[in-house]
Amino acid sequence: MKPLLPLLLLCATAQAVDYKSQIVPIFRAKCYECHSEAKGKEKGDLAMEPDARLAEHIGPGRHVIPGEPAKSTMLIFCQLPDNDEDVMPPKGKNRLTPAELTLLEGWIKEGAPLTAGTAAAAATPVTAQTWTSSDGRTVEASFVSLEGETVQLRVNATGVVHSFPLARLSPESQAQARAAAR
Ligand code: HEC
Repeated sequence: MKPLLPLLLLCATAQAVDYKSQIVPIFRAKCYECHSEAKGKEKGDLAMEPDARLAEHIGPGRHVIPGEPAKSTMLIFCQLPDNDEDVMPPKGKNRLTPAELTLLEGWIKEGAPLTAGTAAAAATPVTAQTWTSSDGRTVEASFVSLEGETVQLRVNATGVVHSFPLARLSPESQAQARAAAR
């Protein structure tokens, strides 16, 4: 049997931000110092750990509005200019990097789940499958998506995602793509 299951996991979660492995480390490095029940610091009445305390600030009208990063003060305060009196962390020290801001935004957009996602699992190497074109050439790649008659494959050698018309794959590879998309 072909290792389809890992591929399916990868497909379902390729975009997902993982709270435990990607968001918590940012909060730990840049926020808990002042917003942690364990550290006895709840500036602005805001504890961001443990998760149960952060959960109090997630919801409509709160600091984190699931699906609405542009309205979530937790993100907005982190995006303010260094000299803004509301900027977080304060005084422009230890600011979030653009990459961290993007992760935070993505996490909120995805609904701000406080669970470990499957992104970490997806990051583990996936066994490549061999794909054969209708004219007999082969490529090692992992399945990304199948939309209509177009399949997207991430070519292992380059990491680049390419689109192929299904018709350009061998019948076996077409079946492989359909199975992976299921
Ligand atoms: C050096 C201490 C410090 C750090 C680090 C810090 N904060 Fe704050 N934070 C404060 C203080 C003090 C307040 C209260 C400000 C006020 O009420 O005017 C506050 C308030 C907030 C508020 C608003 C609470 C409210 O009800 O107004 C949010 C949201 C927030 N912080 C998010 C963060 C995030 C996210 C991080 C990490 C990226 C962070 N903070 C890091 C000190 C800190």
